[in-house]
Amino acid sequence: MDGNGRWAKARGLPRLAGHRAGTENLRRTLKACVRHGIKILTIYAFSTENWGRPAEEVRGLMTILEQVIERELKELHEQGVQIRHIGRSDNVSPRLLKKIQKAVELTKHNDTLILNVAFNYGGRQEIIDAVRRIMREGIDPAKVDDALLSQYLYTAGQPDPDLIIRTSGEMRVSNFLIWQGAYAELYVTPTYWPDFNEDELQKALDHYAARERRFGLTAEQTKTLAEQAK
Ligand code: IPE
Ligand code: MG
Repeated sequence: MDGNGRWAKARGLPRLAGHRAGTENLRRTLKACVRHGIKILTIYAFSTENWGRPAEEVRGLMTILEQVIERELKELHEQGVQIRHIGRSDNVSPRLLKKIQKAVELTKHNDTLILNVAFNYGGRQEIIDAVRRIMREGIDPAKVDDALLSQYLYTAGQPDPDLIIRTSGEMRVSNFLIWQGAYAELYVTPTYWPDFNEDELQKALDHYAARERRFGLTAEQTKTLAEQAK
């Protein structure tokens, strides 16, 4: 969800106004995802690197997250959204952590859509956390493969993302789902996050539908496999 700051700047507003605006369209985009039958949505809300931003902005972002949970939790629960937190808990205020845990606990049996909230999240940190747990558990190195490592990530049990959408035109992955996104289709739109809406989502999905996913194979092989799967 990139481009909040530039969206605000273009309007002569403080950056936090952009972050606030970026919560309004999130609600609509999420509803559109439910309508499209998307089963898992991961939103990149705050990275481990974002702590380095000016203290006032960091404080503001934390407040906004608290407010969003307060404001949206009831409706999300009614819609059948299962909220999960992916990321670390360190440095997060106990008050905010409690709110996050409450949201996770309340919605844990919902199954319309899983909403992974990547908050205090870093892809490298996630892999480091996985490696630490694997080593602590004394797993035999010969047993460490793709499938095993995946089971130690924050997204354990979930399939890899099919599509990663980045707003505001940046052609970077920025430490987002770097393991899980190895074969994800990337879609970059110049639109700033607060202006992203249902129509923008539709465009991204149309682009995705037109892609040929080969997973390292040739076009011929991919076609044969698709026919066999029918
Ligand atoms: C993304 O918007 C929101 C967060 C990182 C929380 P930015 O704040 O990165 O917006 P730009 O990149 O300055 O426009
Ligand atoms: Mg940015």
